[in-house]
Amino acid sequence: METNTAVMLPEALSIGLPEIDAQHESIFRCIESLKAICYGSGPASLEEFENLLEYLKYHFASEERLAGEVGVDFLDHATVHRKNLLALRRAFSEVQGGMRDLHSFLRYIEYWFERHITDEDKPFAATIHARQATARDNSPAACS
Ligand SMILES: [Fe+2]
Repeated sequence: METNTAVMLPEALSIGLPEIDAQHESIFRCIESLKAICYGSGPASLEEFENLLEYLKYHFASEERLAGEVGVDFLDHATVHRKNLLALRRAFSEVQGGMRDLHSFLRYIEYWFERHITDEDKPFAATIHARQATARDNSPAACS
């Protein structure tokens, strides 16, 4: 079986948090794979889309955990995550109910995902980096 090793996460969307960048890469790969199936060999199973939504839930939880580890307030970001998941679930329910097709859902989730990184995760990463820099500056010196 051939493995696609191409990097899917555009450099401009890298946020400098390795765990989160790796998850973003996985999500882009999943979206690309679903697009290849839907626009190529045939319809993807709805289970594959369900798996993607579950992974997004895991991804959001990872961001929340990371924020907690460095003491960054995450209340507003978590609220956005909940609204995002509800909107994506609603759109996917429309697919399941035959009111929206899979291509429409794929266009929606791809556009939403790039905005998620740009509008929500980049400011989040900047806050994390600033917090980590402050912690480094305040750490004791080994010798004077
Ligand atoms: Fe994210």
